Amino acid sequence: MSRFREPQDPIFQRLNASIDFDRRLWPQDIAQSRAHANMLAERAIISAEDRDALLAGLEQVARELEPPGEFRFDPNDEDIHMAIERRLTEIAGPVAGRLHTARSRNDQVATDVAMYTRERTGEHQRALSELMAALIERAQEHLDWAMPGYTHLQRAQPVYLSHHLLAYFWMLQRDRERFAFAAREAGRLPLGAGALAGVNFDTDREMVARELGFSGVAPNSIDAVSGRDFVLDYLSAAATCATHLSRLGAELVLWCSAEFGFCELPDAWSAGSSIMPQKKNPDAAELLRAKAPRVVGHLAAFHGVMHALPLTYNKDLQEDKEHLFDTADTLALTLAAARGMIAGARFDRERMRAAAADELIAATDIADLLVRLGVPFREAHGVVAGLVRTALDAGKSLSALSAQELAAHSEILAANHERYERVLAQDSWLESKVSEGGTSLARVREQLALARTTLASSPEGDAQPSA
Ligand code: ARG
Repeated sequence: MSRFREPQDPIFQRLNASIDFDRRLWPQDIAQSRAHANMLAERAIISAEDRDALLAGLEQVARELEPPGEFRFDPNDEDIHMAIERRLTEIAGPVAGRLHTARSRNDQVATDVAMYTRERTGEHQRALSELMAALIERAQEHLDWAMPGYTHLQRAQPVYLSHHLLAYFWMLQRDRERFAFAAREAGRLPLGAGALAGVNFDTDREMVARELGFSGVAPNSIDAVSGRDFVLDYLSAAATCATHLSRLGAELVLWCSAEFGFCELPDAWSAGSSIMPQKKNPDAAELLRAKAPRVVGHLAAFHGVMHALPLTYNKDLQEDKEHLFDTADTLALTLAAARGMIAGARFDRERMRAAAADELIAATDIADLLVRLGVPFREAHGVVAGLVRTALDAGKSLSALSAQELAAHSEILAANHERYERVLAQDSWLESKVSEGGTSLARVREQLALARTTLASSPEGDAQPSA
């Protein structure tokens, strides 16, 4: 029965319907309906027989919705909530009408979305942990492999490959913490808020919260049905994480080029060219790079939806779902791909070593030698710049400069020619980076140990939201 005399315009129906995308919320919707029915009976708002009939009906609806999915959607099913209720009515008869007692689609949909967000968050945390474990493993294997570190994409100072790989570990660790925060924010139960003001029954929201794994109940019914900032928190964590993956993807693309030649991706993660038989293309790494702005776009778009939206529920909020779903799918895919590529990449020790052996990248170390010999750093910087110019003009390496050439720039350096040569021995540039968090082997070993304990001890998996 409806108050309307005329049927809805089909274009309006298409605009209004969310069934094409929100049908994936069926497991959450069924679970919350079970919990709701249990609670209604517990509070004697419905009878035990009605509850049992509802639970049995929901059981069958769930069976039909389960893949391969024999559930028959009806053209009039506007969203998953109405589809499930419609089918439940067909199966269980008029008792189905009791399920929606003390519930509105407004608190219902907020609850489904919160549950879904928590589940995907846990999944991402597990995927992140696996990627982080792969980074630790590869760092351990390549502990003392020298490579150039870059600034401005110009060779800057040598580092160990282990140190570079672990940089990603720490970015992802922070991502994991951001997801833990988003899960916590999605951990307060909206259900029980009704349409917006609460309901006319003395419900037991804590009971429902416990059954559905929420840490507690949303304390304000208005906030409960209008709030989606937990979705923003989730999208924000995802955007930052996707951006981290894009940097990893971009580096893999560079490193796989003949110009760098630092690594080769396994065949399983490479594509061929339809015209050039010699090509081995890093398509997966390129897509890690390219997917990030799409996730960032979802975050920006949903901020737009929420912006200036008057309280409480507005149909605008239906737009949370496609941003949420596409973000979760995109991130799940790219996290798994990143792991596959990191686990399978073959690094070329010789190519990396040769690039890191470029003596010019020891310039800072020579300046630091001058500092040790009493020269102020700024002056030392100028002296070394002059040396580099002389070497480049003469087509020589820094270590091939004669004592006279050195003396032309710095008497004190010429007088310490032996120490100058020792600084230019490649290992010393790396091993001299002894400061905490630096690239010397002892510090990288320390860092690896810290990474291992961090990986083992931090929130992971389903990250039960804390109160
Ligand atoms: N499909 C709707 C959504 O996703 C469900 C809530 C509808 N509530 C309403 N008052 N029309 O937001």
